[in-house]
Amino acid sequence: MAPAAIRYKQLGYVALNVSDLEASRRFYRDVVGLTPVETDLPDTAMFRCSGAHHDLMLTQGGAPGLKRVGWWMESDAALAAVRDQLRGLGLPILPVPAGEAAALGVREAFRSVVPSLGATFEFFVDMADAEGPYAPTHTKIERLGHLVMNSPDRAASERFMLEELNFRASDRIEGAVTFMRCFPNPLHHSLGLGGSPDGKGHLHHVNFMVTEIDDIGKAIYRVKAHEVPIVFGPGRHPPSESVFLYFLDPDRLTLEYSYGMEEFPEVGDREPRLLPMKLESIDYWGGAPSPGMGSTGAVEQFELETAE
Ligand SMILES: [Fe+2]
Repeated sequence: MAPAAIRYKQLGYVALNVSDLEASRRFYRDVVGLTPVETDLPDTAMFRCSGAHHDLMLTQGGAPGLKRVGWWMESDAALAAVRDQLRGLGLPILPVPAGEAAALGVREAFRSVVPSLGATFEFFVDMADAEGPYAPTHTKIERLGHLVMNSPDRAASERFMLEELNFRASDRIEGAVTFMRCFPNPLHHSLGLGGSPDGKGHLHHVNFMVTEIDDIGKAIYRVKAHEVPIVFGPGRHPPSESVFLYFLDPDRLTLEYSYGMEEFPEVGDREPRLLPMKLESIDYWGGAPSPGMGSTGAVEQFELETAE
């Protein structure tokens, strides 16, 4: 059992490596509809889709994919609890230097690694508010929603998240993916973990939740006008009841817009369901993903030598 003191506010931010920062900067602003955020960090672009300092960070260089995931802890006590837990497991703890934390708009942060994935997780408290209120653009993005990763050892990654880091399983598609929430955040999933056919960790997709069904409909025509490939959807996911559209960024990283999601109470939550592995478990409407979906997305490996 994971310590009950490990409590999350939400998925904080996702950092991606991109091959052409200027092309990606334009894409995430003009096509995805995120709001650019000024930053002094080199070779970096930041965006927000909320009132917080940032929700997405892009860094030039490395293989296109996931640089790290930032988890926003509920309190100082929750940050200390997750730090103690990881240290107790013998995992590296890399404090984020004060100057970098300031540039990220967070008060205190450290990084560690998910052993079976190799992915870098950052845990932080108190992300600053953005300068000025959040005004949605052409798409009424409600929030950064979730990410899905493929693990070379899905069972081990799932066990680590549930039993060591106090995530909760919301639903599973048999043998394929586990949807989990960062307890006690109510959203059905902030993280999904699938298997990996090639023995390496991958980023499968990054999700942005939108406010209206029209945001999904309008996106279909907008991404087509920009000659952006749609790789799945529109459709409706049975596990989370959301209407979805998946499309590719300039590096062919998969992004998702979704509308609607089941929420869980902190106390009295339902048991996770086990859905059979068939297409109807991922789309009520009978669609199927194209081969390009989730096919690009390296996971930057945690730098052990710089850890404490
Ligand atoms: Fe998703």
